[in-house]
Amino acid sequence: MASGFSDEKNGAGKRPSSVHLNNPHLDSLKEDILYHFNLGTGSQDLPAMFGDVKFVCVGGSAWRMKAFIQYIAGELGLGDPKAEYPNICAGTDRYSMYKVGPVLSISHGMGIPSIAIMLHELIKLLYHANCTDVTILRIGTSGGIGLKPGTVVVTKQSMDACFQPKYEQVILGKTVVRSTDLDEGLAEELHQCGAEMDEFETVIGNTMCTLDFYEGQARLDGAFCSYTEEDKQNYLAEAYSAGVRNIEMESSVFAAMCKLSCLRAAVVCVTLLDRLKGDQLTSSHDVLNNFQQRPQILVGHFIKKQLKASQKSCDDFKIIAT
Ligand code: URA
Repeated sequence: MASGFSDEKNGAGKRPSSVHLNNPHLDSLKEDILYHFNLGTGSQDLPAMFGDVKFVCVGGSAWRMKAFIQYIAGELGLGDPKAEYPNICAGTDRYSMYKVGPVLSISHGMGIPSIAIMLHELIKLLYHANCTDVTILRIGTSGGIGLKPGTVVVTKQSMDACFQPKYEQVILGKTVVRSTDLDEGLAEELHQCGAEMDEFETVIGNTMCTLDFYEGQARLDGAFCSYTEEDKQNYLAEAYSAGVRNIEMESSVFAAMCKLSCLRAAVVCVTLLDRLKGDQLTSSHDVLNNFQQRPQILVGHFIKKQLKASQKSCDDFKIIAT
């Protein structure tokens, strides 16, 4: 079986998940414990809790992902935006998870290792819950290259720090290279949403994914720096020539893992500053807060539009508060 998990464990008689797993060892597990979510197939009825999920939004900060669920609840008319939504992962402080109707909102922390662990468990969760036709969106912040701060970048392709569209992982001491292709049609649709809303600038461009915020992103203000301002500017100019318009720290593994599991995926990040002009985040808290809401607003518009197009009434989705 392609999933590597038996039909019996997938829930007899249910439509199988369209999310792909590829791990034959899962078949020998009596139950699958999603440790960092504080969830498991033995202790919870995952199809009942999550089976109706159609949109998963992930972002670095727990606070932001809680704000997102409140925002989307209001936008979809599914609940009071001021209501307190329970953290489904209560009992662990690793990740936070919130749900309203068909939308799941999860924090992933900072950097590739943190989001990768979250994604392993999320992909298994969607599979065990028999979820189908799921779209997953990373909403985040980034440093822009040659863009006005506050511009929203929809990622065309995620690139590594050498401007290659790949994600490399060492497995059993050997480097495995995975593609970072994202769904081009989805990126176009999101870009189109930005144009329709016309509330802030939205562009499509490549996103460079690095292993670090400071030296990895050619900053001059870390604890260590062995290059000059000119070196930095040359590197960023090279990135720009490769189509890179923003820099963040999660998109490559996000794209690679979503592709492996056949999830339709997109990355939508706001730029907090123009890296050609500086390294430090000098904008006021209020300005940065406003910028951080932009990917949420864009994705909210997209989800509303999708639900309308599928003629699915929001009333069809029950709110599950665990
Ligand atoms: N996130 C990053 O990774 N880099 C920035 O410059 C801003 C946000």
